[in-house]
Amino acid sequence: MSGYGRAVFPGSFDPFTNGHLDVLLRACKIFSEVRVAVLQNSRKQANLFSIGERMAILREVCAPLANASVDSFSGLLVDYVREVQANVIVRGLRAVSDYEYELQIAHLNRQMYPEAETIFIMAATRWSYVSSTMVKELGSYGADVRKMVPAASARAIEAKFGIRSSP
Ligand code: PNS
Repeated sequence: MSGYGRAVFPGSFDPFTNGHLDVLLRACKIFSEVRVAVLQNSRKQANLFSIGERMAILREVCAPLANASVDSFSGLLVDYVREVQANVIVRGLRAVSDYEYELQIAHLNRQMYPEAETIFIMAATRWSYVSSTMVKELGSYGADVRKMVPAASARAIEAKFGIRSSP
């Protein structure tokens, strides 16, 4: 008997964007369970949001989704995937520019843990320009990012940069 059950959707999610959400919603339609796994020890030197803040955002985002849950992990992704007995790693693709990096990660992960399959899900084109990095940059200048991120992320960005939300 083959088939895919539990999927892990890993990332830094600093913060979670509408592009991430689009991928998560699509993954929830395909897999019986999707575990969003937030990386604790990112190589990226400075996350804007703490692991607690990123997870709080994700808990709010996942609350209405019956088969999505939130967790954190540190160390190697494949060790986490093995530990939670998942057989799928979900990654989102926005544009061709994402592909080379993602291909490398997928092959490394396959080398280390062949039992897990990396599945790429294309985010809707309307989110192809949205990234956590750009959203943080815009937020730092006080720009309105509410069309690019879920409400929980927008509130966190506004709080972080002292932006007063307009109606
Ligand atoms: O959202 P990101 O930052 O693009 O996510 C990258 C992530 C978390 C998937 C990747 O950095 C990762 O899996 N890190 C854990 C360490 C690891 O397993 N490294 C080997 C593959 S690069």
